[in-house]
Amino acid sequence: MDNRSFQAMRTEFVPLNGIRRTGRRHAAYGSFTGSARRLLKNAGLFFGAILAIVSLAACSTDNGAALDTSVAAPLSIPALLDPTYDGAGVAHYDLKLGESRHDYRQTALTDTYSYNGMSVLGPTLRLRTGDSVVISVTNELDEVTTAHWHGADVPAEDDGGPHSLIEPGATWIADFEVIQPAATLWYHPHVHGSTAEQVYRGAAGLIIIGDDNSAAATLPSTYGVDDIPVIIQDREFTEDGQLDFAIDDDGRGKLYSTLTVNGTINPFVDVPEGLVRLRLLNGSQARIYNLSVEGADMTMIASDGGYLASPVALRQLVLAPGDRAEIVVNVFMESAALVDRSLGRVLELRPNGAASGTGLLPDKLATIERIPESEITVDRSFDMDEERRSRQSGTRWTINGAEFDMSRIDFEVRLGDTERWTLTGDEGQHVFHPHQTQFQILSINGEPPPPEESGWEDSVLVNDEREVVIVARFNTYAAEDTPYMFHCHILDHEDLGMMGQFLIIDE
Ligand code: C2O
Ligand code: CU
Ligand code: CU
Repeated sequence: MDNRSFQAMRTEFVPLNGIRRTGRRHAAYGSFTGSARRLLKNAGLFFGAILAIVSLAACSTDNGAALDTSVAAPLSIPALLDPTYDGAGVAHYDLKLGESRHDYRQTALTDTYSYNGMSVLGPTLRLRTGDSVVISVTNELDEVTTAHWHGADVPAEDDGGPHSLIEPGATWIADFEVIQPAATLWYHPHVHGSTAEQVYRGAAGLIIIGDDNSAAATLPSTYGVDDIPVIIQDREFTEDGQLDFAIDDDGRGKLYSTLTVNGTINPFVDVPEGLVRLRLLNGSQARIYNLSVEGADMTMIASDGGYLASPVALRQLVLAPGDRAEIVVNVFMESAALVDRSLGRVLELRPNGAASGTGLLPDKLATIERIPESEITVDRSFDMDEERRSRQSGTRWTINGAEFDMSRIDFEVRLGDTERWTLTGDEGQHVFHPHQTQFQILSINGEPPPPEESGWEDSVLVNDEREVVIVARFNTYAAEDTPYMFHCHILDHEDLGMMGQFLIIDE
């Protein structure tokens, strides 16, 4: 986002309680969605005054009482970060990670991490297939960080793994070509041992890759209007309104009790009637969501790596940490809601009376060529295991019996090879995520995958009752000096050592 559009967003922001706060803590999210804005515009001074009095009485900020989060609040929409193209046609983006404060309607503003002066999270990076991209990332935190493009097929030195540290005050530059099709990816820090905490504090953002897919041209695609980013994270607050963070070193990863979507607790979003696209990202530390839609139909159109071959009608959608799914919901007259089986309502969709530009889904979304098994030349297996030792030495979090070691390369792949990997896990849940490549699922417990898992994936749920076999091509970049990571995306497990690294050798 260039400075000007960021300024524009700042001035558009009017806090609901009518008090314009200064400082960057509220500069963040673009604008409130339709109804809140209309409300503010049309209701006039009288209503505004009442609103101000009501909210002063229950002021969230400095006098110690929390606002009632059981009242739905307008969903924050992260600002869009479009590139600036230089004379050579290269797309430039700037990210700055720093400390911020966010209004979670707790007893005080909450200290957070964010990019580009937002109050939490980061802007949505809009990339285009075929573009050459330069992203500069400045670290304004007091601790070291990295910037990893989760799901992106990029050279290892631009991948932002634990070897690409950005010291406080330093700027790191990633440059790569966008060689993959349209997809919803995300970015987040990847420092070994502090990934979970930095993501939890708010260091994460969406990436939307666009391409010339003509079927997709008929899908809802107006960002923040009928194409809604939905970053789902669970969090927990202390009595003084601050984030409560913990690593669970003895089980399934830390689960928190409060759902947030794009940083909003109990959100609603105003949407036109007709088809509405939700770009779901599970950016949580460890929680696996079991999602459904009440009051409307849910159709999945894209998995981690891009469009599915055809739309898939679904009742339930399991979204593990790191996973993305794009769904389309047909909203009519009545409110609909995205709900999680254990935490309840995630996001309410309120029809605002306008008509969405799109009414029918195309039958076919993309051509997904199945990678032929005859192409496979190498087999490997990965067992994610939690080994309980004595009380004193605690649990070891391993893949194939080994804990992460920055100085050990676990295996080498030959550039151009196609490999079949068998993924297993012990009791508990794991999410296998290799960097660099989008893979296909060959089987789950020996059966072909269901249609919603038959597209491109970069993260897959594995447990002792779910053995997954995947196939991946390594035919884009050699990585002979800097390794790519593979790990469990339950961030507690990752930080505790359930991670390894591989090189890609061009022979
Ligand atoms: Cu979300 Cu190693 O990444
Ligand atoms: Cu990743
Ligand atoms: Cu795990």
